[in-house]
Amino acid sequence: MSGVRIEILARAEAGRFAAERIVERARSGRLRTLGVATGSSAEPVYEALVRLPGARAALAGVTAYALDEYVGLADTDANSYRTTLERQFTQPLGLTSAALRVPDGTALDPRAEAGRYERELAERGGADLQLLGIGSNGHIAFNEPGADLDGRTHVVELTAQTRADNARFFTEPGAVPTLAITQGVGTIMSADELLLLAFGPEKADALHAALTGPVTSAVPASAVQAHRRVTVLADEAAAGQLLAGGALGERDVLVQGMTSVGA
Ligand code: GLP
Repeated sequence: MSGVRIEILARAEAGRFAAERIVERARSGRLRTLGVATGSSAEPVYEALVRLPGARAALAGVTAYALDEYVGLADTDANSYRTTLERQFTQPLGLTSAALRVPDGTALDPRAEAGRYERELAERGGADLQLLGIGSNGHIAFNEPGADLDGRTHVVELTAQTRADNARFFTEPGAVPTLAITQGVGTIMSADELLLLAFGPEKADALHAALTGPVTSAVPASAVQAHRRVTVLADEAAAGQLLAGGALGERDVLVQGMTSVGA
């Protein structure tokens, strides 16, 4: 691995760290587009933003771009990523729904919609700062193992593992969609800065493989090793194998605790 900064922080502290970074960039005029992620890992960031004084004002002119969306769920479905992000992010922060851009999972031609979304984001210059979670199989957004590491926004078939992981949000496992529109790994890598969040022991294997293994499409999150500005925010459980010793490279920076906030 090469030059990744890893902050070991409890979930709520990691959320605060990310929220402060977002607001700092927004205030200095370097946040026109914010890449937002769905999933439990990003929730502490939104919770912290809502509590952070001045965050609403700082985000007023920012457009948020979602990483992905299920195909086939109505916009109004409680499990669509648009609905989830409006509930967790735009509404509590008083942002308009127009300030949140999400691929349209109801489009008649999802492939055309994926291309349209990619072009729209590219015209905005990509995400200035991108929040990322990691799947237990090493996926980022919905880029499943085997994904093209240069890929752009596309339609993807979800793996059985991802559908099982996400089934907890649905009334029954069969209700989890089989397809999604997702930014590609290449799209994600175009972001100026990445914040990768991982909490809990179920992320430990994926995080270890992503940060210490080879850069490989078998672990899509491993692509972040090649990004010029990536910070990993992980709790001790998720970072367990990284902390076990010998896993990190010489250029990696490991920071434990809150001492580096604002650095
Ligand atoms: C989901 C999302 C990803 C997310 C990941 C982890 O399937 N498509 O964007 O990062 O899985 O989710 P969680 O943070 O809930 O563990």
